[in-house]
Amino acid sequence: MNIILLGPPGAGKGTQAQRLQHERGMVQLSTGDMLRAAVASGSELGKKAKAVMERGELVSDELMIRLIEDRIAQPDAAKGFILDGFPRTEAQAEALDRMLAAKGAKLDRVIEMAVDEAALTERIVGRFTCAKCGTGYHDKFKRPKVEGVCEVCGSREFTRRKDDNIETVKTRMAAYKAQTAPLLPYYSAEGVLRKVDGMTGMDEVYRQITAALAGT
Ligand code: AP5
Repeated sequence: MNIILLGPPGAGKGTQAQRLQHERGMVQLSTGDMLRAAVASGSELGKKAKAVMERGELVSDELMIRLIEDRIAQPDAAKGFILDGFPRTEAQAEALDRMLAAKGAKLDRVIEMAVDEAALTERIVGRFTCAKCGTGYHDKFKRPKVEGVCEVCGSREFTRRKDDNIETVKTRMAAYKAQTAPLLPYYSAEGVLRKVDGMTGMDEVYRQITAALAGT
């Protein structure tokens, strides 16, 4: 099964994609995580993406399409994947259609994570991640069970994203509205779009997503 989680920054795409990966064995393909890994490694892609990401703008379609094309070609993606952060523009959506058609594959569902914009800044600014295994946490909504210790791998090191600040969130939100939200009518017309209420608790959002995937 191939699905897209689509929603604004902080909607919960990464949170739900991680859970789908753990519980259903689907592969999470997060373009944000791939870019952050490229920045950390100092690769050519990372050098090109770093400043753009820190401003909250979108990395070029050309780079993103090449990145996801290479990733989808890996053997683990053949069983199906969850796209988290891609596509974000019309050009990326068209490229994805071409990639899937070339593999004889299709898109089974696009899950729109509908959220109240006012809540997103709080979600984003409070977010932190285990530096070792990448498990996501939140100052208010999801603290580790033992304070200061990752409940998945036991690490005591956590990181916060550079683009998780109020100013950058405004730019990221504007990019979502201008370039990504216009994809929703396209996927609706294709009959694959399902909307979930991203303002409910994480377990309820997950329940709604799995219900939307049933029967695919
Ligand atoms: P990316 O990493 O994709 O960031 P984003 O889309 O802004 O999304 P976030 O990761 O901020 O949010 P999320 O929806 O995953 O929320 P999360 O689950 O963490 O992209 C970063 C940058 O990379 C972009 O700005 C761009 O520069 C570049 N980029 C990436 N892909 C690109 C592309 N295709 N084209 C061009 N450029 C690209 O949740 C947020 C917080 O809320 C967490 O702390 C979580 O614990 C909490 N939370 C989650 N769900 C709930 C809930 N139901 N209730 C309460 N709290 C919740």
